[in-house]
Amino acid sequence: MLPLFLVLSILSFLDASCYASTHALPRWRPDLRRRGAGKSGIHARNTLEGIATNTPTQNSTIVPIAFSSDKSTYYALATIGNVNLRLALDTASADLWVVSSNCTTSQCNLPKYPLAFQSPTFVSVNSNTTAFGVSYADGTGAAGFIARESVSIGNLTVPTQAFGLAGTSNVTFKDDVSGVLGLGFPRLSDISGTISNATPFFASLAQNGSLDYPVFGLSLTRDTSGTLTFGAIDGSIVANRSLVELNEVVPFAPFGSQGNSSSYLQWAIVLDGISVNGTSLTPEPTYPVQTMNKTIALIDVGTAGIFGPYQDVARIFSMIDSARLVDDTTGQYVLPCDTQETLSFNFGGRDFVLQPTDYIIGPAAENPNLCLSWPRALPPSSDGIDWQFGSAFLRTVYSIYSFGINTKEPPMIGFYPLSNATTVTETPQQVSSFLASASATVPTTLPNFLISVPTFSTPSYTFNASISAPVGKIVATGLATSTYVPLLGSHNRNATAIPTLTPSPTVATLILTDTSGHTVTTTSTASERSITLGSPAAGWSNGARGRARSVGFGGVVGALSACALLVW
Ligand SMILES: *[C@@H]1O[C@H](CO)[C@@H](O)[C@H](O)[C@H]1NC(C)=O
Ligand SMILES: *[C@@H]1O[C@H](CO)[C@@H](O)[C@H](O)[C@H]1NC(C)=O
Ligand SMILES: *[C@@H]1O[C@H](CO)[C@@H](O)[C@H](O)[C@H]1NC(C)=O
Ligand SMILES: *[C@@H]1O[C@H](CO)[C@@H](O)[C@H](O)[C@H]1NC(C)=O
Ligand SMILES: *[C@@H]1O[C@H](CO)[C@@H](O)[C@H](O)[C@H]1NC(C)=O
Ligand SMILES: *[C@@H]1O[C@H](CO)[C@@H](O)[C@H](O)[C@H]1NC(C)=O
Ligand SMILES: *[C@@H]1O[C@H](CO)[C@@H](O)[C@H](O)[C@H]1NC(C)=O
Ligand SMILES: *[C@@H]1O[C@H](CO)[C@@H](O)[C@H](O)[C@H]1NC(C)=O
Ligand SMILES: *[C@@H]1O[C@H](CO)[C@@H](O)[C@H](O)[C@H]1NC(C)=O
Ligand SMILES: *[C@@H]1O[C@H](CO)[C@@H](O)[C@H](O)[C@H]1NC(C)=O
Ligand SMILES: *[C@@H]1O[C@H](CO)[C@@H](O)[C@H](O)[C@H]1NC(C)=O
Ligand SMILES: *[C@@H]1O[C@H](CO)[C@@H](O)[C@H](O)[C@H]1NC(C)=O
Repeated sequence: MLPLFLVLSILSFLDASCYASTHALPRWRPDLRRRGAGKSGIHARNTLEGIATNTPTQNSTIVPIAFSSDKSTYYALATIGNVNLRLALDTASADLWVVSSNCTTSQCNLPKYPLAFQSPTFVSVNSNTTAFGVSYADGTGAAGFIARESVSIGNLTVPTQAFGLAGTSNVTFKDDVSGVLGLGFPRLSDISGTISNATPFFASLAQNGSLDYPVFGLSLTRDTSGTLTFGAIDGSIVANRSLVELNEVVPFAPFGSQGNSSSYLQWAIVLDGISVNGTSLTPEPTYPVQTMNKTIALIDVGTAGIFGPYQDVARIFSMIDSARLVDDTTGQYVLPCDTQETLSFNFGGRDFVLQPTDYIIGPAAENPNLCLSWPRALPPSSDGIDWQFGSAFLRTVYSIYSFGINTKEPPMIGFYPLSNATTVTETPQQVSSFLASASATVPTTLPNFLISVPTFSTPSYTFNASISAPVGKIVATGLATSTYVPLLGSHNRNATAIPTLTPSPTVATLILTDTSGHTVTTTSTASERSITLGSPAAGWSNGARGRARSVGFGGVVGALSACALLVW
């Protein structure tokens, strides 16, 4: 998800009103703060806190993550000043914030950071008077003050992490998620821009040299659980690191007249091509001059869906029989539910192939033979980011986010495909059983007339186009400390040397391959530990209402068959 503050910070000198509307939320699901509903392949209960972690060194960690029940976000467990809280993962923002006990609105009926708890690791900033605020494009937001606390995820701790404590919020979270962990670059952080020496959590670890390598990895694997690693990648999923496709990240020029050099802002890479069932089409960038004729794609785990500009999305659906636009405000298309075509996106010269159940959202309530489909179309975005790939795409790969090293190595995003099928492998029967089992029908109004593709005037480009921002630019500051030795190669980018971690021996990972060649994993454990969310670990009960979460294991693996391999 994209925080609105970026809009506000550039409003002063540019017409950014178009920016806000660009990232507007779908109207057909107004309850969602992110851009849409995802889907799940198989069901597994949230089993997050029950899984122990394992770290061979102190400088990398692997933790389980779970898919929220509204299928909008993946979340992980963090410990903030000894208080356990679930945080939604977001690669398109860079601040960490949680709701505090001062928030009493209905949206804050969640585990909270208890302000009355005299945490020994709490460090106040400006006597708790420095304001924190975040707004999302659907009009929701949260506000409070900035403070510092010891924040741990797995075995990694940042002792005085700056974060937001929200006393008001109308952001809707499911599953007792209490806030957001923004994993973006420091330039994107509101808190970093407000107080000094306040680097986002992952950037703190990378800048401090506290990681085996300045990298994090996400395993979503078409499942409702997965893993998040810091400092290494999950070797139980990435079996052959030389098959990882590495893409250099795109830097962004300064806003208007601020500064004179480009730097990293978003986890954004170049989208090289698109194909529909093997027939390719060339993406058309909205700002060909400013972006060197390259189409820029944001990789955003905080978003459920896939979004692209009308000029590309309309051509995709024009290649699919009977597909049509059904809502020109949300850019939603439908196609026949029995469509037998692949949809591929080319990054770094390799096609990443989506099967129908990857891109189909669900059947329309009014006509169950028609299914709503990703990608959804957007008007032009003034930041030049034309595409946005959320979990619908990221569930088909293992994704690697290499932060880059000052003066030595640019940031990169790596994708490791979970299936090497290049053609449609799902039968219509498999697709319909997926639709019957995994998705609810989507309440939407299908117009009984053809809607034409809307036209838009292109807003002026947000950034200072006179300053170059070449893909993969080496920068001097803001990335990991230059004491790291670059491992990813200078010409043929090669992830073979990235350190790996495997889930703890107490965690069993089932790797299942279904009949269409998809790999699905689910995680299980023998040992369980009970966690109380929103309460310090022990001995404190001063009115804070913690929520006991005694977590059992309910991974359902029966939905898929074929070879089941137990990996310890
Ligand atoms: C890492 O965490 C596990 C459990 O969370 C713990 O048992 C182990 O001692 C930790 N290792 C280190 C090096 O801190
Ligand atoms: C929290 O709420 C209490 C009671 O309403 C109020 O006195 C206090 O100022 C609030 N604290 C902050 C930091 O907003
Ligand atoms: C700031 O907030 C913390 C946490 O609620 C509290 O313990 C501390 O007393 C507050 N400090 C000031 C100066 O208000
Ligand atoms: C959330 O709260 C903000 C600030 O009070 C308000 O402007 C906004 O309309 C609210 N949004 C929703 C969706 O309730
Ligand atoms: C950086 O690492 C040192 C140990 O080398 C540690 O004392 C310090 O707390 C770390 N700082 C952060 C922000 O992680
Ligand atoms: C681990 O990180 C600490 C800083 O937190 C650093 O001092 C230490 O050298 C690192 N160890 C290794 C093996 O990289
Ligand atoms: C890993 O992939 C590379 C590149 O395709 C291949 O040459 C190598 O044999 C593979 N290694 C293993 C262990 O499968
Ligand atoms: C990556 O490097 C390793 C070792 O240096 C080599 O074996 C492998 O073939 C390389 N893979 C690719 C895709 O270049
Ligand atoms: C950029 O700005 C800095 C500080 O204002 C200045 O020292 C530097 O010479 C400028 N660089 C260029 C290329 O204009
Ligand atoms: C951009 O690329 C397309 C397709 O490769 C080409 O047709 C077009 O002329 C290029 N435009 C610019 C401005 O370079
Ligand atoms: C596809 O991947 C599997 C392992 O995931 C491998 O055994 C097989 O050789 C691959 N097939 C091709 C055609 O590369
Ligand atoms: C898509 O390609 C597959 C072969 O890869 C073919 O069987 C199928 O009929 C094609 N679908 C359409 C709608 O042409």
